[in-house]
Amino acid sequence: MTTINTREELRIFLEGERNEAREIGLVPTMGALHEGHLSLIERAVQENDRVIVSIFVNPTQFNNPEDLEKYPQNLQADLDILKTFLPKVVVFAPAIEEVYAGQVKALDYDLGGLDQVMEGAYREGHFQGVATIVETLLRLTSPDRAYFGEKDYQQLQIIKKLVKDKGLEVTICPCPIVREPNGLAMSSRNTRLPKRLRERAGIIYQTLQSARQQFGTESVSKIMDWVQEVFSNEADFELEYFSIADANTLIPINTKNENQEYRAFIAVYAGDIRLIDNLALN
Ligand code: PAJ
Repeated sequence: MTTINTREELRIFLEGERNEAREIGLVPTMGALHEGHLSLIERAVQENDRVIVSIFVNPTQFNNPEDLEKYPQNLQADLDILKTFLPKVVVFAPAIEEVYAGQVKALDYDLGGLDQVMEGAYREGHFQGVATIVETLLRLTSPDRAYFGEKDYQQLQIIKKLVKDKGLEVTICPCPIVREPNGLAMSSRNTRLPKRLRERAGIIYQTLQSARQQFGTESVSKIMDWVQEVFSNEADFELEYFSIADANTLIPINTKNENQEYRAFIAVYAGDIRLIDNLALN
């Protein structure tokens, strides 16, 4: 497995690839790889000659220092998993100094309000950090295609805007959410859930599915009240937010319009582990 650690190694590698006119896919990750990540990599491998999987736990997107400290990291295990994708996949695993020259600080982006709702409202500065690292990775690797999961749907919308605003020549490829057998969206943080909570956490997806069913007939406020009630009866789970929003602008709605796409978004605490999920409603 080729592992690239520095900007300079990356530059030399890319020069060789470009000379061979190879198409390059980028899959940015923070490691602790699971089947959700692998679905992105599988698709990238099908659609490109070469795939760069970046593994970098980006400090500037963590609003909570404890979350950063406890974020699962095991580069060797990740490299072992990625061996199945040889020879197409190479790993870019830079040290912090390779990514952030000077201060480890997010840049300032106008994200058009997409960063003001939901995750942005509850995780101060999170999307400025995400935009900073994603722009850096896109500029360093200049891929033909970059792959992102709908698991982080708000992140995906923000990256689409970033790419458009900065005029970056890359196709952003959204990929569907991969779930555990009980419906829990796969996440690196799931490994920190005690077994019993992990089993019971299927309630998050069940709630989204039921909201989708109700969306055909019930009012938005009735569905919102129902979700609040479901979680007020749950000792193990605490609802942080549930939102029904326009799938493109992410603006929460009170009433539905015809011909508009809507999505439900949810964030729930299981003990001290924060879980997010979302589902298309129509
Ligand atoms: P990370 O959480 O490691 O996720 C890397 C990519 O995998 C993201 O695009 C995410 O949406 C996708 N992903 C995670 N779980 C998934 C699932 N269950 N189904 C489908 N896709 C899934 O998201 C990040 O890292 C970071 O913010 C990053 C973009 C790498 C910037 O630091």
